[in-house]
Amino acid sequence: MTKPITEAAITAFFSTIAATIPASLTIADLGCSCGANSLFAVSEIISIMIDLCNAKKHELPEFQVFLNDLPGNDFNTLFSSFLPRFQEKLSEQMKSKYGASAALACFFNGVPGSFYGRLFAQESLHFIHSSYSLHWLSRVPRELEENKGNISMSRSSPPKLPGMVLTLHGRRSDDPSSEEYRGLWELLAIDLNEMVTEGLIEEEKLHSFNVPYYTPSPKEVRQEVEKQGSFSIDCLEMFEVNHDVIETDFDPNVVLEEAVDKIVGCLRAIAEPLLIHHFGEEIINEVFKRFRAKLGNRFSKEKIPLVSIIISLKKIT
Ligand SMILES: C[S@@+](CC[C@H](N)C(=O)[O-])C[C@H]1O[C@@H](n2cnc3c(N)ncnc32)[C@H](O)[C@@H]1O
Repeated sequence: MTKPITEAAITAFFSTIAATIPASLTIADLGCSCGANSLFAVSEIISIMIDLCNAKKHELPEFQVFLNDLPGNDFNTLFSSFLPRFQEKLSEQMKSKYGASAALACFFNGVPGSFYGRLFAQESLHFIHSSYSLHWLSRVPRELEENKGNISMSRSSPPKLPGMVLTLHGRRSDDPSSEEYRGLWELLAIDLNEMVTEGLIEEEKLHSFNVPYYTPSPKEVRQEVEKQGSFSIDCLEMFEVNHDVIETDFDPNVVLEEAVDKIVGCLRAIAEPLLIHHFGEEIINEVFKRFRAKLGNRFSKEKIPLVSIIISLKKIT
């Protein structure tokens, strides 16, 4: 769903630089994480750029890729395990597309740090990408600290930034406390509240727990971009993905079970470190056992769509 918008942003950039494609193109991915997905977006971006260079019969530039995430991200595994496989695949693709002698110069850098601070030298990037990271805030907002019972609410010229394509979780409604927004975090909050009632978690501990997560509406995203003032909006769209999109002709109950396991796995990967940090490790299995039961029950009655916002921005020159 995001690929055509990314493609359009890169194509627009290539058409503005026409014959003067820089000798080296720099790409940054913000919130790359560590796993099979980390290099997926970068590989798509590089492949779009290579195809455009070839269409223009232009010599291939070198690629410089900056992979950013928080310092605690497992960059070691990313660079020692996922990157070699990715490089091998990239080189095979080049050869199969452009012949046995085709080679690609692609250099990878890890950038540990928060994208809420300064990460790069001035005017050093051509293309910025971010997928499902920007809904994480730098911290829990101060006024939420007492959120009782809830947990979320050209070669010689300097390079010109063509743009950014950012995908993040969002919401349709302008009301931040609308039903659609709360979804899975609210179910988790119900479990935690139940465990307080049963004496398994201290009430004070739950009152001081909030997740630094915010899903904006398209209107809020637009307002923030306009307020910041450096970028114009090329495209701002919303799309929904259903968690139960699993290819199937099995028994419907098996599908439901699989979909529920998938969602529990996703939320657990995200929420577990936050929960352990705040409540300790002992409660984790119990929390997710309850969460799974509630989710299975809710899922058998209704779909829980995941709303995403994609925005393509161009730097105002
Ligand atoms: C859900 S993962 C997305 C991973 C990958 N981009 C994808 O689409 O599959 C979100 C990532 O954003 C990172 N992240 C959250 N806040 C961040 C910040 N302030 N600066 C850099 N990375 C951040 C997290 O550490 C996590 O790896």
